[in-house]
Amino acid sequence: MAIYAHIVGWGMYLPEKVMTNDDLAHMVNTSDAWIRSRTGIRERRIAGDKETTASMAIHAAREALDRARVHPTDVDVVVVATLTPEHIMPATACLVQDALGAKNAGAFDLSAGCTGFVYALTVASGLIRSGIARVAVVIGSETMSRIVDWEDRSTCVLFGDGAGAVVLQASEEPGGVLSTVLGSDGAGGDHLIVPAGGSKMPTSVQTIAERQHFMKMNGPEVFRFATRVMGRAAKEACEQAQIGIDQVNLFIPHQANTRIIKSAIKYLKLDPDKVYENLHRYGNTSSASIPMALCEAINEGKIKNTDNLVFVGFGAGLTWGATVVQWGIPIPLQERQTWYRVLRRLYYRWANFTSKVGWLLHRVESRLARRPDLLPLEEESAAPPQEPQKDGPIYTNGHTPNSNTNGVHYSSDSSQQVEKPEPADTTEKNLTK
Ligand code: ACO
Repeated sequence: MAIYAHIVGWGMYLPEKVMTNDDLAHMVNTSDAWIRSRTGIRERRIAGDKETTASMAIHAAREALDRARVHPTDVDVVVVATLTPEHIMPATACLVQDALGAKNAGAFDLSAGCTGFVYALTVASGLIRSGIARVAVVIGSETMSRIVDWEDRSTCVLFGDGAGAVVLQASEEPGGVLSTVLGSDGAGGDHLIVPAGGSKMPTSVQTIAERQHFMKMNGPEVFRFATRVMGRAAKEACEQAQIGIDQVNLFIPHQANTRIIKSAIKYLKLDPDKVYENLHRYGNTSSASIPMALCEAINEGKIKNTDNLVFVGFGAGLTWGATVVQWGIPIPLQERQTWYRVLRRLYYRWANFTSKVGWLLHRVESRLARRPDLLPLEEESAAPPQEPQKDGPIYTNGHTPNSNTNGVHYSSDSSQQVEKPEPADTTEKNLTK
C-alpha cells in the first residue's frame, strides 16, 4: 500500500515591529518609490531583541501542531530550513524539538537559501513515503535582519523576518506532496554569499572590519537566474505530477520580487488570480516566505480540498526547486476547544521545565566528570596523580591544555570541554506574546 505525505497543519509567526520603506529612506539613500517599483515591497517585519530564528520557529510549529491535532511526542522529525540559524551548532531544529517537547523526534537544519522550505518539504515527504517517519514538522524560519548590511541599500531594502511551518503526516489517501524538482548551480554561489564566519574565512578582527559577515548579493545576476529557473522548475514539477498548468489552483512562489513572479507567470501563461503574493507586506523572508504565504492563502480562503498547489523557490547556492501538493484536508478546521488549548499550553510549560532540568543535569554530569575522585578506578590508576598547577585548571586526563587566542582552555577529549555555553533563551517567557 502506497504511503502519501499530506500537509495536515500550518502555522506562522511574524515579529510585531514593522519597518516601512520610508523608515529605510531615513537609514540609507533610497526611496519608497524606488523600492516599490523595483521590488513591490512596501514594508517588512523586523525581529525584536528577544526574537530569534528558533523562537519564531517554535511559535509557528506550535500553531501548526495544534491545527494538525498532533501531539509533539508523536513527531518523528523536525526539519528547520534556514540560512540564519541560531548558532553554527547546535542545529536550530534541536532547540525547536526541545521547546516543543518532541521527545521522540530526530532534528536537523537544512541550508538551501531561499529554496530551503521546498528542499525541506521534499526531504520530509521522502522520509514519510519511505516509511521512516510518520509525522514531520517542516519549518522555514529566518532573521534576515541579523545578516543584512544596514549600510548597503542594494540588499537591506529587500529582506524581512518571520517563520512558517507545516506538519506533514503519513496517509494512505492519495494526494499530498505529489512531485518535486530540485536544482543547484554552485558555480553561481558567490552571487549570494555571507563570506566570513565559516571554515574558509573564520571570524577575525579583519573580517568584522571589512563587514564580511553580512550578506553580499549580485542583484541583477540573481534576478536573471531566478527568472530563468522559476517557471521551468514549476513546469517540470507539474509534468512529473501529471497535471497541466491549467489544473494548478494556486501558485505560491518564493516572495522575493514581484517582477520575478510576473516573469514566471508570463512563462507559465498562468492566470494572475491563481498566484499568491504577500511580499508587499513582508519583503523577502527567505525560506519562511513560502510557508508564510501558504498560511495566509489558507486564512484568506484561497485553498480548498483537492486543490493542486505549486510551491516554487530559488535562492543562495544557487538553488531552485518546485513541488506540487494536492491539498487533502477540508478547510476551515473545527475550532479548538478551550480545554484542548489549555492542555497544550500546559504541555509546553512542562516541556520547558523538563528542558531546564535536562540542561541542569548536563551541567552536573560535566562537573562530576571533572572530579578526579569520581573517575572509574582503572582510569584513576592509569593517570598518575598530578601536582596542582599554580594557575590554571587541573585536567583529569593528564593532558596539557591547549590555549587559543581567547585564553579559553580545552582538553584534547571533547567530552571534557571546560565551559559549556548557556542554551539559547527559547524559554516560555520569551515565547508567550
Ligand atoms: N534605492 C535606490 N537606488 C538603488 C537601490 C535602492 N535601495 N539599490 C540599488 N539602487 C540603484 C543602483 O545603485 C543602480 O544605480 P546606478 O544605475 O546608478 O548604478 C540602480 O539603482 C539600478 O540598480 P540595479 O541593480 O540595476 O536594479 P535592478 O532593477 O536590478 O533591481 C534588485 C535591483 C531589486 C536587487 C533586483 O536585481 C533583484 O530583485 N534581484 C534579485 C534579488 C533576490 O531576489 N535576491 C534574493 C534571493 S533569495 C535568497 O536565497 C536570499
